[in-house]
Formats: sequence, C-alpha cells, structure tokens
Amino acid sequence: MAEMQTATTIAQLRMLVSCARKSGSKIGFVPTMGALHEGHMSLAHEARKHCDFVVVSIFVNPMQFGPDEDFHRYPRPLQDDLKLCSNAGVNLVFNPSVEEMFPADFTTVVEVNRLTNNLCGKSRPGHFKGVTTVVMKLFGQVQPDIAYLGQKDAQQALVIKRMARDLDLPVDIVICPTLREADGLAMSSRNRYLSSEQRSVAPLIFKSLCLLKEEMGLGKHKLISQYREDLLKRLEAIPKALIDYIEIVDADSLEVLQTMSGALLVAVAIRLGNTRLIDNIIINTSA
Ligand code: PAJ
Repeated sequence: MAEMQTATTIAQLRMLVSCARKSGSKIGFVPTMGALHEGHMSLAHEARKHCDFVVVSIFVNPMQFGPDEDFHRYPRPLQDDLKLCSNAGVNLVFNPSVEEMFPADFTTVVEVNRLTNNLCGKSRPGHFKGVTTVVMKLFGQVQPDIAYLGQKDAQQALVIKRMARDLDLPVDIVICPTLREADGLAMSSRNRYLSSEQRSVAPLIFKSLCLLKEEMGLGKHKLISQYREDLLKRLEAIPKALIDYIEIVDADSLEVLQTMSGALLVAVAIRLGNTRLIDNIIINTSA
C-alpha cells in the first residue's frame, strides 16, 4: 500500500484528493478532532472497507467550544494519531491550522434548527453551529462520496445528516456504532482526563442505560417520565457525578416523547469533575 500522505493546507488537500478522484477512487471521509482511539479508528476501518481513498481530518475546532470549555487543554497527540491512521490504512490526513480554516475575516455560519434545540444543543449553546459550520467546510474541501460518523454523538450525527439533506450535499452519511471499553464505558478522547477514581465509576453511566433498556423490555409500561426518574436516581447515585441532562426523545426527530412509541433515544451527559461525558442508547419499543 502507498505511504500515507498528510496535508496542512486546503490547496494541498484539494490537489491530493482530486488526483485520487481522477483515478476513479471512491472517497471516504472521517472528520475528527484527533486524540484518536479505537472508536475513531472503527470509522476509518468502515471507510476502508467501502472506499478506495480514505481521508481523516484532525482539527480541534475552536468554533464548537464554549468560552468555559476545554478547547485549550483538548489533547493533541499528533504523532500518535498519525501512527494510528497509518496503521489503519488511511490514505490522507488533513491537519489544518486554525488560521487556515478560519481566517480573520471569516463570517459565514451554517445552522441546523429544531434538531439542535435540546440535549447537547441546549447545554452547550452555539456548539452545533460550530460543528455544522466546520463540517460543511470540510465537506466542501474533501468532497467525499461517503462520510462516517459515530453514534456516540447521536445528536451530532442526526444534525449533520439533516444538514447534508437540507443543503443537497452530494455525500452519503453513514452512522457507525459506539465502540466501548471492556467495562462498557464509551470510548472518548475526554476519558483521558478522568482520575482513576472517576474512571472506576464512569462505566455506571452505560450500565444505567442498559438497565433502563432491560426494564423497558420487561413491558412494565411505566410512563416515560417515571423511567426518566428511575434513570436520574441511578445516575445521581454515581459518586461525585453531576447530571447535565437526561433525555428520552424520539430517535429521529429528537422531540421529547410523552408516550412510548417507535425508536427512543435515551441520551445523557454527566460531569465527573471537570470532564463532561456523553452516552446514549436506542430502545426500539415496537420490537
Ligand atoms: P470527535 O469527538 O473527535 O469525534 C470524531 C468522530 O468519531 C465522530 O463522528 C464521533 O461520533 C466518533 N466517535 C467518537 N467516539 C466514538 C466511539 N466510542 N465509537 C464510535 N465512534 C466514535 O465529533 C467530533 O470530533 C467533532 O464534532 C467533528 C465532527 C470532527 C467536528 O469538529
């Protein structure tokens, strides 16, 4: 296999991708912020299976971080990331600077409404505007045939899918399952912030979601609000955990549900110390 290429400017990226496209390659794209782990790499592996030329972007996007969030301390282990990409058979890593992506006179914003009103959209004001703006730019730069996103960020995946549909972007969006550690904790670049004490209780987040799914499967037919209350109690019992949100919503529209019907998305955001972790599970009530 040819050696992995890297690009730091949009011009270099365009040149390398257009060479691949001219030779008939199907272009697969995995946008990331780096600090890569097996979850990210599962997207690259999926792209590898279905595409001829795989592009991974590594860009810690300032526009999607709030003023009190972790933009400056977000991990940036570039050499490790490049090694992981190379081992996964990635063809091209795009790692632009902030100035390359957002020159001083940058003024355009891409915003998806409604779907961004609750969950992370509510608890991180402006976050999704930053995500959709940068992803729109990346799609314009790479022009992929298929883009791969993780179910771990369920709302983000739906929002990007909607943006692509609403703006008639010629890209297929594929959403891949959440990869987890052996104890169930969803893999995340932010897990490396956790102290050993926090790390030891973090798997209780997914465990609580699984218990909820089990209970719903038993057909106890409680009200959604009661299931939510049970989940809240379990999550509040995690030592030193602060609940950011717990939502049970329609898995497609993300509207809050009153009755149990169709596919439910149960999504939570929990703070352990300074670290905010998110996770979710889909429960099909008609099955
Ligand atoms: P980042 O958090 O680096 O995630 C990049 C991609 O990896 C996202 O699609 C995310 O859902 C996926 N991912 C993360 N953890 C995963 C896991 N455990 N299993 C499967 N997939 C996982 O999400 C972003 O970056 C940014 O918002 C971005 C889309 C790059 C825009 O800046």
